[in-house]
Amino acid sequence: MQSSAPGPALAQAPVHSSEDGLLSFDLVAEAQRVKLGNRNANLLTYNGQVPGPRLETKPGDTVQIRFANQLNQPTNLHYHGLHIPPTGTGDNVFLEIPPGEHHTYEFQIPQNHPAGTFWYHPHYHGLVAEQLFGGLAGLFVVRGELDEISEIQAAQEAFIVLKDFALDRSGNIPDPGHMAQMTGRIGDLLTANGQFNPSLEVAQGGLLRLRLLNASTSRFFWLSLEEHPFYLIATDGGAIAAPVELNDLVLAPGERVEVLIRADREPGQYRLLNQPFNPAQGMMGGSMMGGSQSRNSTETVATLTYSGTTNALPLPNQLIAVEPLPEPQTTRQFTLNHGMGMGMVFLINGKAFEHDRIDTQVRLNTVEDWEIINTGTMAHPFHVHINKFQVLSRNGQPAPYAAWKDVVSVSPGESVRIRIPFRDYTGKTVYHCHVLDHEDRGMMGVLDIQSNS
Ligand code: C2O
Ligand code: CU
Ligand code: CU
Repeated sequence: MQSSAPGPALAQAPVHSSEDGLLSFDLVAEAQRVKLGNRNANLLTYNGQVPGPRLETKPGDTVQIRFANQLNQPTNLHYHGLHIPPTGTGDNVFLEIPPGEHHTYEFQIPQNHPAGTFWYHPHYHGLVAEQLFGGLAGLFVVRGELDEISEIQAAQEAFIVLKDFALDRSGNIPDPGHMAQMTGRIGDLLTANGQFNPSLEVAQGGLLRLRLLNASTSRFFWLSLEEHPFYLIATDGGAIAAPVELNDLVLAPGERVEVLIRADREPGQYRLLNQPFNPAQGMMGGSMMGGSQSRNSTETVATLTYSGTTNALPLPNQLIAVEPLPEPQTTRQFTLNHGMGMGMVFLINGKAFEHDRIDTQVRLNTVEDWEIINTGTMAHPFHVHINKFQVLSRNGQPAPYAAWKDVVSVSPGESVRIRIPFRDYTGKTVYHCHVLDHEDRGMMGVLDIQSNS
């Protein structure tokens, strides 16, 4: 176990908030020399920041992002988890913004959009892993009903973007090498908001609302906090019905959670720990056959430090009901596996991604059950754009509580059943593995949502 003293206070990215119903700002993607903890690093940034600025919106807001691509390769933006149109100036991942070009994204957050922790990142097929690993990612928050619950309002809020990096001695990102073909590229520098083991102060008696994003390209995080359980209050798609006590949690690439932490221990320092997670075996730690996540020791990603005292704050009893979904009109299967092509290829139902092929056609205003079956040897976090889903069961075992998700990890040999409603928007979008090297190597399909008329 690494036992270095905690670093400086946890930094929060600059925030852009909507005003009078409008969030409007300029965003530039650009290579920059920045500080990663105490190290100089040549990374890819949004507005010079790693992680990028945090965007804060409310249901009903209009969002206008004047985006400029100052990278030396094409890119675009994806709004991971938002329920907005997949077409035009919305969450259009088929768009190519060449180097030196601009694009203005403009869309409305629906009036009935749930509050939650969403994020933005590049989604130009073939370069997604490289650009994300370079540092391009930021939080996109929607404030709403969950934020108005009085116990949650009373809590101290902190965001942590978890991300691994790799740097050579000159501060450049080394070539991922061919091991990365299987596991996806993984770095041994674990950062929280671009810092190494930052310290987060909380008053004894207080309640901390920790909002976590795993913005890594391929690395899973398996987190626990010394002497404190987590009280899960929200998953990818927003609030759950009531807090769920957890001793640890796994965040696959792309996943988010919100947890409450009661600072009800003795004053002191408590480490937020990451245990090695073996994506070839799921949550078993220990031996790292083939798919090594590069280190097999537990590491500290941040430290909670008690400072001062406050009156003890209670946990909320109730959050927001998760609406039950009706029986599905259609059931489909998606089998995840890999094979050899030009190097490794990753496949859904035996096929690698093709831009112009429609793989799955669904009808607007219907509900479907999708069975995601992993017959390969690596975990695959399955992600769907635009519409969120509920996990019904894993290997036939019903999910322990209802939750809205947009990423669900499926370990080798597992079969996971999800239920997904297609609402409000027609058009083409995608589903894919959120190990982004797998996605870039083919593990993505085109979903076409068609109107009924
Ligand atoms: Cu966060 Cu299509 O991805
Ligand atoms: Cu997404
Ligand atoms: Cu995968």
